Amino acid sequence: MQALKGIKVLDFTHVQSGPTCTQLLAWLGADVIKVERPGVGDATRGQLRDVPNADSLYFTMLNHNKRSLTLDSKNAKGKEVLEKLVKSCDILVENFAPGALDRMGLTWERIQELNPRMIYASVKGFGPGPYEECKVYENVAQCAGGSASTTGFLDGPPTVTGAQIGDSGTGLHLAFGILAALYQRTHSGKGQRVLAAMQDGVLNLCRVKLRDQQRLAHGPLREYSQFGQGIPFGEATPRAGNDSGGGQPGKILKCKGWETDPNAYTYFITQAAVWEKVCDLIGEPDWKTDPGYATPPARLDKLDAIFDRIEQWTMTKTKFEVMNLCNPLDIPVGPILSMKEIAEDMSLRETGTVVEVDHPERGKYLTVGMPVKLSDSPAEVKRSPLLGEHNEEILAEVLGYSAEDIEAIRASGAIGAMKQAAE
Ligand code: COA
Repeated sequence: MQALKGIKVLDFTHVQSGPTCTQLLAWLGADVIKVERPGVGDATRGQLRDVPNADSLYFTMLNHNKRSLTLDSKNAKGKEVLEKLVKSCDILVENFAPGALDRMGLTWERIQELNPRMIYASVKGFGPGPYEECKVYENVAQCAGGSASTTGFLDGPPTVTGAQIGDSGTGLHLAFGILAALYQRTHSGKGQRVLAAMQDGVLNLCRVKLRDQQRLAHGPLREYSQFGQGIPFGEATPRAGNDSGGGQPGKILKCKGWETDPNAYTYFITQAAVWEKVCDLIGEPDWKTDPGYATPPARLDKLDAIFDRIEQWTMTKTKFEVMNLCNPLDIPVGPILSMKEIAEDMSLRETGTVVEVDHPERGKYLTVGMPVKLSDSPAEVKRSPLLGEHNEEILAEVLGYSAEDIEAIRASGAIGAMKQAAE
């Protein structure tokens, strides 16, 4: 039995942010019905294709455990089916450009008329205000949410991060809003609107940078490397390279093999509580008592020199040796793992964090499984649906249409052709 068993989701999402959210709901046990345009489907099915004529990894890795229904929402019969879906589902999730759902005739007022218990959840680029009509993709959100201006090195341009905090991050935010609305419905009896704006989601994840913006009014940010380097601060939170961003100084340091391996690095944190162990480990026992080094405030203006010395030590070890030597001493370090190393890490396979999935068109591939583990709600990862694969069963089982009705719907052109899995 899974946490969301019995909950039906009308999944009107596409690309990354919305599908991330509904995939999480599916892993929690909801029946997620992905509604796609006949013959076209989610644009990502065909984007960044690696295997000819097969759904791309972009699509398959974001749409596990869902069922696919093709439906032309602009066809009269299609609209009828859509309204029936609204009546029988608990949650509608969408991430179209602003106004698209209204133009399909599904305004919030209409949805409430059809199903007052419906939770109507949307991802949009921006919340209400000057930019609310804009179409937004990942990096636009990273830029508008404050991430890009605070990422990268002081002497370089603003930088986007590889972590998809705008898309997948907002999908996560939306999922948490939906679950709260679902809980509230258990005693209010009513649905509600849930909005996750990508700018808001990114800013939420950049909270510490707004913290630093306000600290600037009271003096330099002493834990930033730039302070030790004597570089004055400007008016806005600067880019801080690989500085830790917290109260415990840290940096990325070279390890053995860095000359040829772009990922032979470790993150090293000189946490105050283990400073003495760090000194012993790197062969600087005098730093334990030297007043210039013994306390965290005394070290702030020489962090670069300290990390240079630690790096002389890390360069004599592989990143895994550094981990093995530091962990028993409680010194926090992290090897810089490449995606290749993550894909090959069997411990991640054992926990279900990385999962191998079989797909009728593309064969076996790796995906990231449910990132949160619930003891009473196991998530088994099942392959993504082919376009329109579940048309018949959804129309019959979920919506109760007879064989004749289904034939009429098909004849109207509302669902298009069905793609059969060659299993
Ligand atoms: N049947 C008929 N029409 C359908 C349909 C269906 N099943 N599904 C979608 N459509 C139509 C929509 O009604 C819309 O038509 P309209 O503009 O005539 O009203 C159209 O397809 C395209 O929708 P849109 O969302 O504008 O797609 P896009 O490819 O132009 O834009 C985004 C893509 C991502 C930029 C945009 O959807 C967006 O800004 N979304 C919100 C923010 C977001 O989630 N961004 C991150 C994506 S990872």
